[in-house]
Amino acid sequence: MIRIAFYDCKPYDRISFNQANKRFGLHISWLETHLNADTVSLSQGHQVVCAFVNDTIDAEVIHQLKQQGVRLLAMRCAGYNNVDLHAAGTDLTVVRVPGYSPYAVAEHAAALILTLNRHTHKAYNRTRDGNFSINGLLGFDLHGKVAGVIGTGQIGQCLISILNGFGMQVLAYDPQQNSELAARLGFTYTTLAELYRQSDLISLHCPLTPETFHLIDNNAIAQMKAGVMIINTGRGKLIDTKALITALKADRIGSAGLDVYEEEADYFFEDRSLNPITDDTLARLLTFPNVLITSHQGFFTREALHNIAETTLQNIDDFFAGRQLTNQVCCL
Ligand code: NAI
Repeated sequence: MIRIAFYDCKPYDRISFNQANKRFGLHISWLETHLNADTVSLSQGHQVVCAFVNDTIDAEVIHQLKQQGVRLLAMRCAGYNNVDLHAAGTDLTVVRVPGYSPYAVAEHAAALILTLNRHTHKAYNRTRDGNFSINGLLGFDLHGKVAGVIGTGQIGQCLISILNGFGMQVLAYDPQQNSELAARLGFTYTTLAELYRQSDLISLHCPLTPETFHLIDNNAIAQMKAGVMIINTGRGKLIDTKALITALKADRIGSAGLDVYEEEADYFFEDRSLNPITDDTLARLLTFPNVLITSHQGFFTREALHNIAETTLQNIDDFFAGRQLTNQVCCL
C-alpha cells in the first residue's frame, strides 16, 4: 500500500483529495503541521510526502526524508522554490502540479486590480454602515492605460487576455520570448527598464529564482511611474518589502495588491485573529489604506482544487507504476 504523509492539510484539501482518491485508493495520513526539520519525523513509514507552498524542504529535511525511506516528494502546487533540488538529487524524485488553473490566479490578480482601483472593499463597508458618501473612492479608467506583465507563462498569458479585455495596452517582459504568442494575444515584449518606465500597473507572474529574488527593489521602483499600481500573486520574495514600504510612504507607489508576502509562512492560511501580529513589516503593510493583502488565495477555486488533487495523485500513481513522469521537477 502506498502511504502518503500529507502536510499542511486543511479541510478543503481533505474534501478534494478524498474525492480524487476514490480512483486511486492510496493511504493518506493527514497532518495539519507545516513540514520542516521539527516535523519531518512524522513522515516515518511513508513512501511519499505531499507538501505545499510554505513548507520548508531544505537540505536538512531532505536528508531525513531520504533516511526515512521517502522516495517521492509530491508538491501540490506549481512553484517549487521552497525545495532544495540540489539536496534532492536523483534519489528523491520531486513532482509538482503545473498549470492546474492559470485562470484562477489571473482572475484573482484582476480582482486585486479592480478592488484597489475602485475601492469596492471600502464601499462595501461604507454602505453597510449607512455611509453612502463616495468621497475618497475615486479610481481611474483602466481603458487606455499601460499594463506591464512580468512573466508570460500560463498565468501571465491569462492575465494579458483579461487586461486586453479592459482595453489596456500590455507590455511584457520574459527572458523566453515567443513572438507568435505576442501577436496572437496582442502584447509587446520590452525590456524591464522600459516596462517600469511606461506601466501604470505592473503584475508579477515569474517564478521565484535567484535571478528574480527582490526583483522589485529600490532601484526598480525608482524607474517606475509615480503612482504605479503593483500586483504580486507570484511569490513574496519577488518584492523587497522594505523598499515597497518606503515607496508607499513617499507616495511613489500608488497602490499594492499582494496575494503573497516575503515572510508569509507563519501567517497565511491560518486564523491569527486572536494573537498580536509580531511581524512588524506585515503589520506596517496592513496600515496602508492603498494596500490590499490576501492570504495566498489566488489558486483557491473549485476547479483548481479539483485539478491539484487529480494531478498530484496521478503523479504519485505514475511514479509507483514506473510510468513516464510528465510533471517531474528536474534535479539540479
Ligand atoms: P509558468 O512556468 O507557466 O510561467 C513562468 C514564466 O516566467 C515563464 O514564461 C518564464 O520564462 C518566465 N520567467 C522566468 N524567469 C523570469 C524572469 N527573470 N523575468 C521574467 N519572467 C521570467 O508559471 P505560471 O504557472 O504562470 O506561474 C507563475 C508563478 O505564479 C509560479 O512560479 C508561482 O510562483 C506563482 N503562483 C502563485 C499562485 C497563487 O496562488 N498566488 C498559484 C500558482 C502559481
